[in-house]
Amino acid sequence: MTVTGGESDRPLILVSNRGPVTYDDEGGFKRGTGGLVTALTGLAVHRDVIWIASALTGGDKQRVAEADGKSFEVDTAGEGTFQVRMVVSDDDAYDRFYNIFANPMLWFIQHYLWDLSNAPDVRRHEIEAFEFGYNVVNEDLAKAVVEEIEGVEEPVVMVHDYHLYTLPGLIRKARPDAFLHHFVHIPWTQPDAWRVLPRGVRTEIYEGLLANDIIGFHTRSYRWNFLQCCRDLMDLDVDFNEGIVKFEDREVWVRAYPLPIDADAIRRVAQSERVAEFEAELLRRRREHIVLRVDRADLSKNVLRGFTAFDLFLEQHPEFREKVTFVAQLMPSRTDVPEYAEYLERIEAIVAVVNHRHGTPDWMPIQLKLKDDLEDAVAAYKNYDVLLVNAMFDGMNLVAKEGPMVNERHGVSILSENTGAHEELGEYALSVNPFDIQELADSIHAALTMAPAERERRARGLQEIITSRNPGDWIDDQIADIRKKAGVEA
Ligand code: G6P
Repeated sequence: MTVTGGESDRPLILVSNRGPVTYDDEGGFKRGTGGLVTALTGLAVHRDVIWIASALTGGDKQRVAEADGKSFEVDTAGEGTFQVRMVVSDDDAYDRFYNIFANPMLWFIQHYLWDLSNAPDVRRHEIEAFEFGYNVVNEDLAKAVVEEIEGVEEPVVMVHDYHLYTLPGLIRKARPDAFLHHFVHIPWTQPDAWRVLPRGVRTEIYEGLLANDIIGFHTRSYRWNFLQCCRDLMDLDVDFNEGIVKFEDREVWVRAYPLPIDADAIRRVAQSERVAEFEAELLRRRREHIVLRVDRADLSKNVLRGFTAFDLFLEQHPEFREKVTFVAQLMPSRTDVPEYAEYLERIEAIVAVVNHRHGTPDWMPIQLKLKDDLEDAVAAYKNYDVLLVNAMFDGMNLVAKEGPMVNERHGVSILSENTGAHEELGEYALSVNPFDIQELADSIHAALTMAPAERERRARGLQEIITSRNPGDWIDDQIADIRKKAGVEA
């Protein structure tokens, strides 16, 4: 078997819900948000790739119509070109898929976000969202994949994330010869977290996923959890050391591939003119210290406890009043999901309380920016003294890698021990238990009073680890495993 992508002649097929770009009604486009897009964009410009994704906006649908449903070339300024095929699903099915089943149901299960004495209630509404939403969108994308690989012998398809767990089963049925590789960008939780789902739904999800040849995670601990789930929930034969699940007559390999960032790309952004403009504004208003966070406004990111800890820090260390600003750039996300809309309101409310409590006529302790703007974020990355990444649980967290890459002040990272990035960067960060508000407040103080030589040592350590691998290595490791496995089976 020849593996496509890389040095061979056939394109690699990537499939994910969110694609690299979204179009507006005027035909303009902007880059999609979130870790998955950041990761795969770096990859898609270095390899020959066809990226299949859902059409998300009216502008996307218009673009699909112009391309007659076929793939088209996208030219992103500075990042190169790649082939994209967008797939339109029925509006109602998509709404059920995205707003009821994938988010919140699966996302909450996979970040331990359900408050089980209160939620979720699983009723027909949720089951039907799976049957007539989640599965329909998976079928629509699977059809497009099958069309793209028609006539290609032993094609390789790389499937991404929690939106597409039932898609591999559909492709396996249509093309038993396909090599299916699935990367899960979010945590895999322990077996009991999955017991929220009715057994039938759960089984369909696991069977869909186990139609893959290889399943990849960011960390060893998610890999371990997945193996445990296969044993405990599916009663399957599992080899924990080798990372192999026996399913039907096949072996499924389960691996950890921690995702690197494209350091050159983020450095290029850091040198852009637009970043310089944001920087000038930031420096004009700058106090002595900046504490920064950049996140989607997602419950898993633990934004509220971050502000509560800052409140406590200011109360316990009044000598820092008027000397520090907490810049929080949060991108509103999934706002049609009630839990997310409410979270955004709670964020605004707590910021108002902290600013009211500590602020003075010319000092606002927290500067909240509800926006999605990479250049604005990078301007702040360059200038922070403390980067706060306190997610409750997080698959990897690329902000923890992007920030130290371009920071120019030997800024200190405060990093939750429950982020995937912690497995790699924990040694040079201040590790925190994300639920421990006092520890977080103490860490802010420790970071702001740390000796310059120690700041520098840590900043260098972070940069060294972050630059030791790039997205090309990440995909090469996976392709090497694909080759190895295909070789074993041939
Ligand atoms: C996380 C997920 C991605 C998702 C991104 C943004 O990084 O792993 O699959 O695309 O969040 O979320 P959204 O719902 O806007 O696509």
